[in-house]
Amino acid sequence: MRFGAPSADGGRFAAAWSDLAGVGRDHLRGGYSRHVFDDADMLLRQWFTEQAERRGLLVENDRNGNVWAWWGEPGTDAVVTGSHLDSVPGGGAFDGPLGVVSALLAVDELRLRGVTPAKPLALACFAEEEGGRFGLPCMGSRLLTGAVDADQVRRLHDGDGTSVADAARRVGLDPTTLGPDPARLASIGAFVELHVEQGRLLQSADASAVVGIGSEILAHGRWRITVKGQGNHAGTTRPADRRDPMIPAAAAVFAARRAITEHDGAVATIGRITPIPGGTNVIASAVQLWLDVRHESAAVTAEIVDSVVGAVRDEALAEGCTVMVQRESMVDRVAFDTVLGLQLSELLAAPVIPTGAGHDAGVFSAHVPTAMLFVRNPSGVSHAPDEYADTADCLAGVDALADVLENLVR
Ligand code: GLV
Ligand code: MN
Ligand code: MN
Repeated sequence: MRFGAPSADGGRFAAAWSDLAGVGRDHLRGGYSRHVFDDADMLLRQWFTEQAERRGLLVENDRNGNVWAWWGEPGTDAVVTGSHLDSVPGGGAFDGPLGVVSALLAVDELRLRGVTPAKPLALACFAEEEGGRFGLPCMGSRLLTGAVDADQVRRLHDGDGTSVADAARRVGLDPTTLGPDPARLASIGAFVELHVEQGRLLQSADASAVVGIGSEILAHGRWRITVKGQGNHAGTTRPADRRDPMIPAAAAVFAARRAITEHDGAVATIGRITPIPGGTNVIASAVQLWLDVRHESAAVTAEIVDSVVGAVRDEALAEGCTVMVQRESMVDRVAFDTVLGLQLSELLAAPVIPTGAGHDAGVFSAHVPTAMLFVRNPSGVSHAPDEYADTADCLAGVDALADVLENLVR
């Protein structure tokens, strides 16, 4: 590949990026809040559809809220690339959209190169990859592959109490059709997801590398912990009379930090705490918190969860509170396809790096040869407004993706 001399059109990249720049801005948190089936997400889907149709691709919405755009007749042994359009609350511009924009520009690049795919090539945008609205990450790809029960998904609800079924219905998707799509899955011959790097492993591997190849995703999961106490008056309730669920909740934060200092390579985060009802002069009656844990080994992940929950239970006992734990999602370590990985290494001569972030590619890798490309992110910041990648690096990413697709569609 031609690092430093990207052939993708910088003008088209800038135009796509400026189309997306105003959609779903979060003026409260900064960055973007784009969640499945909300107005921003629907606008982005419309944008993707228009862009794909402008390129003569055939666009279809599948039964699980994912969008597909086909170059050539949909058929077997298809090469698929793409990512997602949704974000975390207050997320960056690149996580997800970079893979989608790069997929569109890679099609342009292949045409410039005079490539006519011998296999069907599809671009895909997967629904609710972040789990930012309904809590379940990679919802669209998990439904498609049958990795999650459709009835369970239909019943999930967002912070306003809207269920997946109602949200789907509102945008014209029949919720009764959610669920495994074996014919579509069987038609995929290979899946390649390009993504902004989330961290700085690429720079550690090779300071001059612009693009990296994914080797694996850590085992990771989310647990919802509900601590119940007794709602009461902040000013009049004596210490001995308090049953404050915020005390065990605070223990979770410290236990998570302690656990990652005790387990090499582990990360554990409490990123979301909701006191109920949430008043300055109110002792909460309950607190909900979400624990995110990741490590190479699922067993260590489980150990960390146990130690955090144990710390919460100990404090709850002393405070007269009760604790309920619900596992919201969990996936084992994913190793990407070694043959495809070698093929990409030979083609791109790029460093191979693991990631602690979850991706739709991780879901697909249980079923089809799957690979990931990462584009350098100098600060390493992601899931935050400061997430960034240089345009020149993004264009090199498009070029690398085009190289890979050209090789795969032969
Ligand atoms: C998704 O980006 C995740 O890793 O949670
Ligand atoms: Mn993400
Ligand atoms: Mn992502």
